[in-house]
Amino acid sequence: MTDWLTDTRASYDTVAAAYADAVRGSLTGDPYVRAALSLFATLAGGDGPVADAGCGPGHVTAHLRGLGVDAFGLDLSPAMIDVARRDHPGVRFEVGSMTRLPLEDASLSGLLAWWSLVHTPDEALPQILSGFHRVLRPGAPLAVGFHAGEGARLKTEGYGGHPMHVYVYRRTPAAMTARLQEAGFTVEAELCLDPSTPSPSAVLFARS
Ligand SMILES: C[S@@+](CC[C@H](N)C(=O)[O-])C[C@H]1O[C@@H](n2cnc3c(N)ncnc32)[C@H](O)[C@@H]1O
Repeated sequence: MTDWLTDTRASYDTVAAAYADAVRGSLTGDPYVRAALSLFATLAGGDGPVADAGCGPGHVTAHLRGLGVDAFGLDLSPAMIDVARRDHPGVRFEVGSMTRLPLEDASLSGLLAWWSLVHTPDEALPQILSGFHRVLRPGAPLAVGFHAGEGARLKTEGYGGHPMHVYVYRRTPAAMTARLQEAGFTVEAELCLDPSTPSPSAVLFARS
């Protein structure tokens, strides 16, 4: 495993319980993110499995299931998957990496990468996005949420002061769109979140 994957896994193993506490119920107060997930659920169409890649504690996976999506979660961090299984019994969660998706070609009706590429260095993006393209059925939707902007910072602690060692990357929607196009996706829509704050985000909706 490369250094960034080892560091990311160890960091999220350390913060898993605290992260879950921090985000539990967060969708209730975020109508724009809920709307984005509803749109994604509509695009995925309720027909076949949908992966929440980098699902963390599984609250978004469970939300999608509540919208009628046959969603399952996948995450690099075994501790996150333990928390997800505990908090959402009956939902399928597996340990695995987006760099080597343990999924058949053209097996998914949709894939969500919800702030899960934010620790992925630029050089690893093409392999991951090509993997997303490989596992999606032709025409199936991909939604990517990420920190908007430019640059990277090293995060050494989080979620109540727990030690972490991850780089947090910001990307412009234009740069992410270009990466998606290189991997074979067509980007159909873009949502800007908190555009006038110091910490904006974006969601891109694409199709394979
Ligand atoms: C900022 S959290 C986002 C979690 C969740 N998607 C959410 O919206 O709250 C990033 C998550 O991505 C996972 N992750 C990072 N790189 C990954 C990879 N290569 N494969 C699978 N999961 C990964 C981390 O373990 C972590 O749980």
